[in-house]
Amino acid sequence: MYKTVEHTLFLGKNVVFVPECSSTNDLAATLLPLASTVEGTIVITNHQTAGRGQRGNTWQAAPVQNLTFSLILKPAFLPVKDQFHLTVVTALGLHDFLKAKRLERIQIKWPNDLLVNERKICGILIENQVQNNVLASSIVGIGLNIRQDIFTLPNATSLKLETGKDYSLSDEFQLLLSFLEARYLLLRQGKRNELLHDYLQVLYRINKGHSFRSKEIDFEGTIVGVDDIGRLQINTASGVRTFDLKEIQYL
Ligand code: BTN
Repeated sequence: MYKTVEHTLFLGKNVVFVPECSSTNDLAATLLPLASTVEGTIVITNHQTAGRGQRGNTWQAAPVQNLTFSLILKPAFLPVKDQFHLTVVTALGLHDFLKAKRLERIQIKWPNDLLVNERKICGILIENQVQNNVLASSIVGIGLNIRQDIFTLPNATSLKLETGKDYSLSDEFQLLLSFLEARYLLLRQGKRNELLHDYLQVLYRINKGHSFRSKEIDFEGTIVGVDDIGRLQINTASGVRTFDLKEIQYL
């Protein structure tokens, strides 16, 4: 069903399609040791029976309606302390894709949820394998809602719900991969500052007040940026505080 990706240099030149699996991230991890699993390999399925999300959540996606896949990257140029940059390029590649689809009010909710009109259209789960303090390989799992138009979660959306149009999963897959590769190549060329600048430009609620919860305490604050390891910086009544993913919740 999914062909080799055409307009890329290396991403998606090897596509492993399975009609069903538990999780493409898990399947990608089992393929990682094989010599045939070159950088840019994509594992994609029509149906995940145990899709995984961030913070131990599950990822639910109706079969054959959405894109659920994992990219295998070998970003050995990235020290482990800089792993957040992979989050930045993946989220920006998805943002570029959604922009090309002419959606409005597309934002990245830190660290890597894609929102359209404040509803979640895409989630990313990146799992890294570290060797000698660099990222020897990275499994970038992407769940992008395309044609599904009924969700149990109230804040979920899809391309179809946003535009009313119908979409071909394989065509959108081809287009998305070229945007993801373009952003990844910028990272490989060392354009970190430019990428971070673009990320902050589209960050949900940046420089706007919002309510947060940390360690069961609710507080008001304003997101002012991310630090060099990707932690969220929030200006609060007691000054700028820094949070990692497990420490903060948006209310
Ligand atoms: C999140 O927002 O919580 C992240 C969701 C990531 C879902 C994708 S779907 C493909 C890949 N395989 C998984 O099991 N999860 C990711």
